[in-house]
Amino acid sequence: MVSLASIRASFLLQISIIASLLLAACAGNFYQDVDQTFGNERFKILEGGQLLTLSLDKLSGSGFQSRNEYLFGRFDMQLKLIPGNSAGTVTTFYLSSQGAGHDEIDFEFLGNSSGQPYTLHTNIYAQGKGDKEQRFRLWFDPTTSFHTYSIVWNSQRIIFLVDNIPLRVFNNQESIGVPFPKNQAMRVYCSLWNADDWATQGGRVKTDWTNAPFTVSYRNFNANGCVKVPGSSTCGSTNSLNNDQAWQTQGLDAKGRNRIRWVQQKFMIYNYCTDVPRFPQGFPSECKGSRF
Ligand SMILES: *[C@@H]1O[C@H](CO)[C@@H](O)[C@H](O)[C@H]1NC(C)=O
Repeated sequence: MVSLASIRASFLLQISIIASLLLAACAGNFYQDVDQTFGNERFKILEGGQLLTLSLDKLSGSGFQSRNEYLFGRFDMQLKLIPGNSAGTVTTFYLSSQGAGHDEIDFEFLGNSSGQPYTLHTNIYAQGKGDKEQRFRLWFDPTTSFHTYSIVWNSQRIIFLVDNIPLRVFNNQESIGVPFPKNQAMRVYCSLWNADDWATQGGRVKTDWTNAPFTVSYRNFNANGCVKVPGSSTCGSTNSLNNDQAWQTQGLDAKGRNRIRWVQQKFMIYNYCTDVPRFPQGFPSECKGSRF
């Protein structure tokens, strides 16, 4: 006789199998979610769509973009960066609209000589104007394992997170005349390229091509956002099975504010809002308000 307990156990097992399938679906599949932008055979999708690698050699880097365009959302990507000597290389994960007066929200990883730390560079463009750089060190080695980098973009603010720890918040301060990206849909872009004219130690350290090809890995791309309907100015349904809408109003709670203070005190290495020689006429207006 089949006991009630064993029926319940098999029922729970089935539920957990379905749940893990749904989770896998949420994590996305690179075959369905992205298109290559450049680099020919340097772009590779592996493991049935779960892993994507980009490589860079002397002839070219490589890159891809999301198929969908989004007007607000939460975008997560796991990256594993180039181990060893990555000087001169730049790896990116960013959002951008197209055309003149574009909007953009950037994560850029600037490589370094062996044993020297990567720099995580962030910037925001609104209606074509950037100049809002903040740079960070990481509190771990980003080349030995995957870490999650996230952009939350809603109508009130932009939040940059690393392993769910907030690094940077850019609030919508249109009320005091600061442009904020909110009218142009953006795609997700990722790339690996050579920038040894500026990336490492201000361009002094060049790419060592004897180490080429350089390779970075991406996995678990998740875009939980408002997908733009082609040919329409509105955006339609959210595309994720994981219909978590928290990003629409996400801000920082007390724990988030503590964490961002910790990151900014210990790991921020450049902030345009404190760069006095750069702004002799005074800091941009958004630098004056409360930080978080
Ligand atoms: C590379 O390492 C040097 C020395 O530790 C450091 O000054 C620099 O900020 C690092 N990052 C880049 C991108 O140059």
